[in-house]
Amino acid sequence: MFETWEELEASIIGCKKCKLCNNRNNIVFGTGNKNARIMFIGEGPGADEDKEGIPFVGKAGKLMNMAFDGIGINREEVYIANIVKCRPPSNRNPEDDEAAICLDYLRNQVRLVKPKIIVLLGSVALKNILGKEYGITATRGKWIEKKGILYMPTWHPAALLRDDSKKIEFWQDLKQVVKRDREF
Ligand code: URA
Ligand code: SF4
Repeated sequence: MFETWEELEASIIGCKKCKLCNNRNNIVFGTGNKNARIMFIGEGPGADEDKEGIPFVGKAGKLMNMAFDGIGINREEVYIANIVKCRPPSNRNPEDDEAAICLDYLRNQVRLVKPKIIVLLGSVALKNILGKEYGITATRGKWIEKKGILYMPTWHPAALLRDDSKKIEFWQDLKQVVKRDREF
């Protein structure tokens, strides 16, 4: 564990700890407020993120930004990162070994940000952070507290692009997050 952002950011430069290093253009480390009360965790970079080096800038990200605008979440005020920092080929899910290795960086990010709330975007984030026994369909919209952090699992924004009915639930889940955050 690194105690400063400078050390952590320096440690990931040129990372070759897993095979996802082979096809990436950019490491997508994370973005936003390093002292955020709310953190969002996605799955891994897609093509647009890989090109720009910033999480959630593609189609799913644009949809998430629209929800943020509607609900009153300022993207600059929260911190956004992914389970894996390099794009999986053809946007496949990260494999267990890749996620396990890359999670060290994310854990360190969480340690430095010290968020009160973590929003888990989709099944990959949920299972890698809280455990394989959790399923997104049963768990979404429900608070789970662990070690002083409140977790809110919800749909991955890309799922909203495929299924309109999930938009309402996503919206409701983020509303809960904003409401809880105001109570702190
Ligand atoms: N999907 C993710 O899980 N993360 C991104 O950064 C972009 C799309
Ligand atoms: Fe390193 Fe993570 Fe990229 Fe794998 S995905 S090469 S562990 S930064």
